[in-house]
Amino acid sequence: MIDFKNVKKAYPNGTMALKGIDLHVDDGEFVFICGHSGAGKSTIIKLLLREERISSGELIVNEYDLSKLSNYKVPQYRRKLGVVFQDFRLFPKKTVYENVAFAMEVIGTPRRDINKRVPSILRTVNLAGKEDSLPNEISGGEQQRVALARALANNPSIIIADEPTGNIDPKMSLEIMQLLLKINKLGKTVIVVTHEKGLVDYYQQRVVSLQNGRIVDDKVGGMYNEKV
Ligand SMILES: Nc1ncnc2c1ncn2[C@@H]1O[C@H](COP(=O)(O)OP(=O)(O)OP(=O)(O)O)[C@@H](O)[C@H]1O
Ligand SMILES: [Mg+2]
Repeated sequence: MIDFKNVKKAYPNGTMALKGIDLHVDDGEFVFICGHSGAGKSTIIKLLLREERISSGELIVNEYDLSKLSNYKVPQYRRKLGVVFQDFRLFPKKTVYENVAFAMEVIGTPRRDINKRVPSILRTVNLAGKEDSLPNEISGGEQQRVALARALANNPSIIIADEPTGNIDPKMSLEIMQLLLKINKLGKTVIVVTHEKGLVDYYQQRVVSLQNGRIVDDKVGGMYNEKV
């Protein structure tokens, strides 16, 4: 569960990136977050990841009150979040398998469990057979799916994707979207930040439109709001 209550975010230079966000996302929902450049989309993600703190209001995620969360508890909190970054952020010298396994190693998962889980996640994202490739030996769409596999590695309850289709071609965009929907059907909450009107209109999911730090539209089965 994600609950923003009148959340404001001012950056240290005085920019008011969010001017009072009220947004409730239930477990298992699929939400597109749309808006023009500078609207505050990435700021929302940074607050969810607790890379940034809210300036005022209240933000509760999975029973964690993020403004009260101690720094030492942040890693534990983040374990329930899986993030796919626009630029993938894969380790270039690790294979596909190792990139996914590493996410599990850092939280101390036993080797036996890693060896069982990584192949199954790679199958979920249609990457079976690519285990031993390095990131520069696979396509952009495949790299994107490695990033998604890694986001899923620790069985998070929420998947957040920032412009997941920004760097890949339309066919690959459809594939990554199908995967995100499949993951949503498996019960996970999925938040997708995107500019792509075509995708948003096609999938008819909940669409939250941001403009200058405010939510101006929030509709289920919505279309891309052309004004934002
Ligand atoms: N670290 C920062 N310090 C100061 N201002 C920032 C910082 N990060 C973002 N901003 C400002 O906050 C506002 C919202 O930025 P944000 O990155 O959330 O936008 P966005 O919707 O993700 O845009 P884009 O589509 O270009 O990625 C913008 O005015 C931006 O300039
Ligand atoms: Mg952004």
